[in-house]
Amino acid sequence: MSIKEIKKEFPIFENNSGLVFLDNASTTQKPKQVIDKLIEVYTHYNSNVHRGLYPIAEKTSLEYENARQKIATFINANPKEITFTSGTTDSTNLIAESLARSGIIPAEPKVLTTEQEHHANFLPWQRITKGKLDYNYNPNTQYDVVVYTIISNVTGTYTDIKELKKQPNLKNAIFIADAAQAVAHKKLDVKDMDTDFLVFSGHKMFGPTGIGVLYGKQELLEKMEPFKVGGGMISEVTKESATWAELPEKFEAGTPPIADAIALGAAINFINSIGFDEIEKHEQNLRKYLVNKLKQIPQIKIFHPKLNEYAAGVVSFVSLNVHAHDIAQFLGDFNICVRAGHHCTQILHKEVFQVPASVRISLSVYNTEEDINQLIESLKKAIEYFSKKD
Ligand SMILES: Cc1ncc(COP(=O)(O)O)c(C=O)c1O
Repeated sequence: MSIKEIKKEFPIFENNSGLVFLDNASTTQKPKQVIDKLIEVYTHYNSNVHRGLYPIAEKTSLEYENARQKIATFINANPKEITFTSGTTDSTNLIAESLARSGIIPAEPKVLTTEQEHHANFLPWQRITKGKLDYNYNPNTQYDVVVYTIISNVTGTYTDIKELKKQPNLKNAIFIADAAQAVAHKKLDVKDMDTDFLVFSGHKMFGPTGIGVLYGKQELLEKMEPFKVGGGMISEVTKESATWAELPEKFEAGTPPIADAIALGAAINFINSIGFDEIEKHEQNLRKYLVNKLKQIPQIKIFHPKLNEYAAGVVSFVSLNVHAHDIAQFLGDFNICVRAGHHCTQILHKEVFQVPASVRISLSVYNTEEDINQLIESLKKAIEYFSKKD
């Protein structure tokens, strides 16, 4: 599929003439094939998984496991290593609580993280360590856990796990990679990365909300205690105790988001039909186009303006005299969707950037230079309008 044809695959643009959607780090729009898949499940074979012995239930289970296989292939994992969750936040909480409960990490683990983490991958570790985390590598500490985001949801900054792993005191650490902002933009291979965990959300990769993925190395998942317990994840239950099902059911207590998981498989088909070479090339070109245009506006400060360093298509900035929320609201009046706020990274905003809020533009494969032209034109008007009022 060519980049030009991609926008036509998204019914939301047909139904909202003139919509300029630049808030893709929050959630992406859904292509027709994902929406059709949801409708197919509910109108043709809706049943619970792994229970019914009748044909439509067998079909649902088959489709559900096919989706798991598709996700496994997508990131080069084994299907047993793929747990369906409700999203990145669910996955990060599961990992932290389960590692702590299983005694795989010490009661007071040494955790290395960064100031740019999304709250989803930070707060579970803040709670477990009672706030004692390192934000910079300390050569005198042997780390148990490294928690990091592959692509920042604020600046688009890319962190390469292979570089991180060169640090000597991380040899025995468990690596938890937040791929929420990477998975729709960059080819990820868990074997090549040699990461212990990788987590992401379906809704940021053209799939439905309510479905997410937790990849974990099989040997670790086998040692871990499930965080949630209930139906669908047991082997045997007595009055006193219970044993757990094999992977991957072990961590999927209760009825999972079945149709959403199956439709996530369709989202992967969509991504594969374009290919990461095309996606990255297009988004990199657009990022350059956007940053160059933003740089021409004197009243704004971009947080990661460098173009000679790889960064994904997420660009945040502040206006020196207009509040981020005023800008976003003004742009919204022109049907241009951007995000204003701290983007669930209060530490980054307060302590590093020293601002309460920024404006974030986040790109996806369906965005065009025309979208950016419209953004820039309205942004200039917003700054002019609010500057006059001041
Ligand atoms: C880097 C990063 N991690 C985690 C999350 C949380 O994702 P979700 O809300 O889908 O659980 C987000 C969402 O914006 C994110 O950008």
